[in-house]
Amino acid sequence: MPLKQIDYGSPEYLQMVQLRTDILRKPLGLTFLPEELEKEKDEILIAAFEEEKMLGCCMLIRFDPQTVRLRQMAVLNNLQGKGIGSALMHFAENIARDMGYRKIMMHARKTATGFYEKLGYTVLGGDFQEVMPTTTKNKSPIRIKVSRKQAK
Ligand SMILES: CC(C)(COP(=O)(O)OP(=O)(O)OC[C@H]1O[C@@H](n2cnc3c(N)ncnc32)[C@H](O)[C@@H]1OP(=O)(O)O)[C@@H](O)C(=O)NCCC(=O)NCCS
Repeated sequence: MPLKQIDYGSPEYLQMVQLRTDILRKPLGLTFLPEELEKEKDEILIAAFEEEKMLGCCMLIRFDPQTVRLRQMAVLNNLQGKGIGSALMHFAENIARDMGYRKIMMHARKTATGFYEKLGYTVLGGDFQEVMPTTTKNKSPIRIKVSRKQAK
């Protein structure tokens, strides 16, 4: 299963936005605003493919000089539980390490905490809700801050 970095604005990026809409936003009755997507041009965009079809994706953004934040992790519904999410995480961790980051953190959905814990991440704080641009506060999923130091 090829994993690769993709370019902002490319046809693959449009596939990524569709996948994230289907898996992360539609279940909440939400979509992406153009101004949200505009901000993604500086992020590291990562996706898993089978031939031309995108199976899953995630993104990395600088948090501080030592730390990168992972976000928008999503795998197609009918392919979850088959190792694609783990493969994306390992690929993202390698990119982060190559870029000199020592730590990865995320504001994980509470429902996905077990996934990150299995990969060695640690829950750092209590539950909270993130205010998303397209929603009222109560539509935002419950999240937990999760973090891990980079392996050597
Ligand atoms: C969460 C998600 C990205 C995980 O990707 P995936 O491809 O399904 O995960 P994997 O198959 O690589 O799973 C790795 C391990 O984590 C476990 N796992 C996966 N999702 C889990 C979850 N939500 N809760 C607890 N454990 C989970 C798997 O059972 C597997 O365990 P095993 O190694 O003992 O077999 C994917 O299920 C998904 O897109 N979910 C919906 C969107 C979402 O919640 N995204 C995360 C936002 S923070």
